[in-house]
Amino acid sequence: MTTAAQRQLTACALRGSAYAMENLEPKVQPKLSPMMQQYWDVKAAHEDKIILFRMGDFFEMFHRDAETAAPVLGIALTARNKNSADVTPMCGVPHHSIANSINKLLSAGYKVAICDQIEDPKFAKGLVKRAITRILSPGVVFDPDTLDALNPNYIASTDSKHVSFLDTTTGEAFYFQVKDEARRNRLLASLQAVEIITTSQDKERVEAGLKAVGLQALLTVHEDLGPAFGDWPESARRVLGYATYMQGEKILETLAPFERRELLDRMELPSTVVRHLELFETYKGETNGTLFQAVNRCKTSAGARLFKSWLQFPLSQPEAIERRLDHVERWTKPQELSSGSLKEVRQALGQLGDIQRRLGKLGNPSCNPRDLIALADSLEAGLEVCRLANCEEWNADLVEKARKVLNEIRSTLVDEPPVQLKNGGLIRKGVNAQLDELIDLSTNSHELIMQLEAREKELTGITSLKVRFNNVFGYYIEITNTHKDKVPTDRYDRKQTLANAERYLTKELAELETKVLSAQSKRLELEIAMFTALVASCLKETRSLLGIANSWAEIDVVTALACLAIEQNYVRPQLSLAGNLNLRASRHPVIEQALSLPFVANDVHLAKGGTLLLTGPNMAGKSTLMRQIAVSAILAQTGSFVPAKEAELPVFDRLFTRIGASDFLSEGLSTFMVEMKETAEMLQMATENSLVILDEVGRGTSTYDGMSLAQAILEFLVENKKSMTLFATHYHELTELSTAYPQVVNGHMRIHEEMTSSGPEIRFLHQLAKGPANKSYGIHVGKLAGLPSSVTKRA
Ligand SMILES: Nc1ncnc2c1ncn2[C@@H]1O[C@H](COP(=O)(O)OP(=O)(O)OP(=O)(O)O)[C@@H](O)[C@H]1O
Ligand SMILES: [Mg+2]
Repeated sequence: MTTAAQRQLTACALRGSAYAMENLEPKVQPKLSPMMQQYWDVKAAHEDKIILFRMGDFFEMFHRDAETAAPVLGIALTARNKNSADVTPMCGVPHHSIANSINKLLSAGYKVAICDQIEDPKFAKGLVKRAITRILSPGVVFDPDTLDALNPNYIASTDSKHVSFLDTTTGEAFYFQVKDEARRNRLLASLQAVEIITTSQDKERVEAGLKAVGLQALLTVHEDLGPAFGDWPESARRVLGYATYMQGEKILETLAPFERRELLDRMELPSTVVRHLELFETYKGETNGTLFQAVNRCKTSAGARLFKSWLQFPLSQPEAIERRLDHVERWTKPQELSSGSLKEVRQALGQLGDIQRRLGKLGNPSCNPRDLIALADSLEAGLEVCRLANCEEWNADLVEKARKVLNEIRSTLVDEPPVQLKNGGLIRKGVNAQLDELIDLSTNSHELIMQLEAREKELTGITSLKVRFNNVFGYYIEITNTHKDKVPTDRYDRKQTLANAERYLTKELAELETKVLSAQSKRLELEIAMFTALVASCLKETRSLLGIANSWAEIDVVTALACLAIEQNYVRPQLSLAGNLNLRASRHPVIEQALSLPFVANDVHLAKGGTLLLTGPNMAGKSTLMRQIAVSAILAQTGSFVPAKEAELPVFDRLFTRIGASDFLSEGLSTFMVEMKETAEMLQMATENSLVILDEVGRGTSTYDGMSLAQAILEFLVENKKSMTLFATHYHELTELSTAYPQVVNGHMRIHEEMTSSGPEIRFLHQLAKGPANKSYGIHVGKLAGLPSSVTKRA
């Protein structure tokens, strides 16, 4: 089970609707306060969601919502009106830290609705107006920055022929054409969709399908289809319809067009293989110790996500593989003069940030000025990557657009704008003359008043004339009674008489006052309008920018693979169209990086259709050897160099692994029946172009049955399927198969045995040698593991 899946285990599928049922307003209610009435009105329209209800500086949750959320968020559950009939369980989070809380609720499988104050409480007459401002679900998150940067966040849907995926945080959108329903469900599981959209009619079937593949995603019913573009399948339009319903039409601009991806030209990696080979997660559910962790050298999150998808779907067309390998190889060599060195490109990539998610934010209501600055920084770094990688020419159009957006942001916003819009101060001087005047007015009001005062003094000849301000009259001119006769009554309008002075207003002063007082609010209004226009203008180019961002991600992956090859001494694999496998000095990429001792490299040679039958004592390195071959094949078909001195590899169509009970205890607990079911499926699907790994099959049953089964399976593979097979076993009897089948080659892992004063000792050499092992050294291993000598002697 993957951690993502485990995380989602806490969330039950369909939580939404089940949640709604039990979450209705109590039938008998004491008289509600106006605010609680307001709350229940909102809740009634959003029964299936947890309502975050803004009160002052907090977002509060009430009743069932509070009881549900408090443990998920790890906060205290309290109560309002504790000692009355109207006792209300509640809990709350400060408004500024809401993003993390929302994410916790979403990843626990809940939907969330934000009910915010939509007027300034200072000016509210009576109860503050509140309304739902955003609805969020696992697939439509509040702030993408709080998500795990290495994993996409897919909303998905299936129809009778397709399975479609959409990541609203990066704009990635694609579909596969898959007729087989089980395969569609396997894809949902292997891409770890977080939310599945379906119709009420299909709900039950989809739910059963998800259960079958063990995917615990939130199931959401949404009937409306999004707009039709080209030949997008129904499932694509359904996720689009849902995304627009949740996030508004704007989101359409931040999404790439749905891309049709092919599975025909991909190697199929069943989820069991992904698990057995610990590609993305170890058996303990960790990322440390996985293949991905060991070989990922990407500088950007977008690159890492792309690399992950490359590993999930290795190529199976030789030309496509060679093309990727060519790109990687180019970077392992000194560069031509016109382009940058690998080091320079890597440096520029390091500045790129998560441009896809930064673009995704443009369509998000919470997009703020700093987000645009971050986007500009990304674009600048990306353009530098283009220059260094010499891709300015083949991407000329896109480069031009990126430059345009970059300039627009840089020339409009100040270098370090505030996060919040509400106080202004984000637009550069000189961009808009009207704004500059408003800024002048609001910041220089004192000076303008002083100027007016000086002018009036001169015109009237009254040196003691003063312009003053109070809350009742605003600005006024005050003249002491001594100078009363000099007042120009045609222009001066008397407003108030005091004991020793009179207060006046002039038309000019009234105009200046309106200007000054409204300048601040006008300035804010204008700044917000200009910011919104800037976002809109960037949004218009989002699709192009997503295109170029993908090229940058690709350059990241390719240069990362080049770095890996140089750093770890990997070699470019040669693809064997004849289907032969020849590895010289092959290593396991993960174990060799983890070991403090040197890893023992091995040579492996197998002709097309060949079987390597591995025997040897426990701990000798059989499983490691088989896994390193499988992992090398995956790496090669991903376009990576492989850990060996020389590598010739067939292009495999599928990979199968069957790991016996011993190696994985968690799996050992599953029944023998499951093992046999999976084996049966494998025997059915394997072809002569497949690689099959069987590690101690049959262990889960009695020796005799186990051995007969293992033999039958092996014979079937050799005779009928002709797949390339790696087979590790403790049943020495099986080594005789090599006499009946010339394609079966015996091999064993060498050990060194010597007599010591305390009896024979063995040392593992981890070296592959020809022929079967002649003894089982299990007893010695038992001794090494510390079994009492009375036990080992008896054995
Ligand atoms: N080529 C190697 N170089 C160095 N160390 C190795 C090598 N191969 C294996 N090892 C070490 O030996 C340990 C045992 O290897 P592995 O699990 O492959 O043995 P095994 O033969 O499959 O044993 P079992 O029969 O118990 O399943 C590994 O965890 C690793 O630390
Ligand atoms: Mg083993």
